[in-house]
Amino acid sequence: MPTAAPIHVATAYSYESTEELDAVFADNSVGYVYSRYGNPTVRAFEHAIAAVEKTEEAIAYGSGMAAIHAAIVSVTASGAHVLASQDLYGATHALLRSMATRNGIETTFVDILDLDMVRRRAVETKPAVIIAETISNPLIRVTDIPAIAAIADEVGAVSIIDNTFASPVIVQPATLGADLVVHSTTKFIGGHGDTTGGVIATSGKHASTLREQAKLLGALASPFDAWLALRGLKTMHLRVRQQSENARAIAEWMHADPRIDRVNYPCPATGQVPDIFVSEERGGLLSFEIRAASRDGVFRFQDSLTLCVPATTLGDVYSLVLYPAMSSHRALSRDERHAIGIKDNLVRLSAGIEDYEDIRNDIDRALAVATA
Ligand SMILES: Cc1ncc(COP(=O)(O)O)c(C=O)c1O
Repeated sequence: MPTAAPIHVATAYSYESTEELDAVFADNSVGYVYSRYGNPTVRAFEHAIAAVEKTEEAIAYGSGMAAIHAAIVSVTASGAHVLASQDLYGATHALLRSMATRNGIETTFVDILDLDMVRRRAVETKPAVIIAETISNPLIRVTDIPAIAAIADEVGAVSIIDNTFASPVIVQPATLGADLVVHSTTKFIGGHGDTTGGVIATSGKHASTLREQAKLLGALASPFDAWLALRGLKTMHLRVRQQSENARAIAEWMHADPRIDRVNYPCPATGQVPDIFVSEERGGLLSFEIRAASRDGVFRFQDSLTLCVPATTLGDVYSLVLYPAMSSHRALSRDERHAIGIKDNLVRLSAGIEDYEDIRNDIDRALAVATA
């Protein structure tokens, strides 16, 4: 028995008899027939995700976007309505907008923290889906998952929660009532910036539809990517603990620093303390507004960093910074960005596992340059 999961690369599987193969095809016997239908390494990863997200099943995909797309199409038909958080990840926003013209699926975007408004819009539009992120990007606003799941139940909608920013270490949305929990495993689950993948964790009922659909969509996880994500899971709780400690310490320091106008992080120092988290950890993501900084000032800040890496991802062992106005929210006009609170001086930090002092000193030096 190997102590690490092997990477299975076979495209197809042979059996002693055709009868046996027929039984596997019919799902009467456990086994694999063809790589697009299932793979043992991918299955091992799916079992592990279901365990950490406390769901019956999980289905892996080739990317986070593939998982989000699969989740939405599995519970919508042409003419259906979607109620979505207005500050979803940019590509999810764009996907939903494109579905209006391509698939006849209309989306209403709402402030997901305004529960009265969410309920009103849900009653008005009778959505098939309500979709939100546990922690939003880049404003780090925390969704009241039990309240959103309850509203979805009231109007007969399926709730989809993107748990990428939080990770299952911090919260397991299915335990709070979410129907479909999606992840970009490219982030905290993989954890080392070297894999691309997605996953949906859910009940058996949704999983069987998703599995049949996955065979046709073909947006499957590669065995190697699933293996890297499975290996990442082994250290996820240690990484997220350290990343959370670093993020919290940076947020507390910034909250008291006059060069910072505002810091977004759910901790007592900032007064942003939602109560959906099961652990002390609040995640590795924070964002902050550099006082009086224009786009040039933010560029100077990023170019002066020597430890933190300006890069378009998050959840890595290295601290990463991102300028939303230039990257994740580039497709929005300045007015659209400002309307949802993404200012020109906003920077996102994904705290890594380095020593806190090293991260702080790097940011401190870069802030001195940016605000000189
Ligand atoms: C919250 C969130 N969901 C989904 C995605 C999409 O993931 P992927 O790039 O793996 O497709 C991202 C990517 O940054 C993300 O930040």
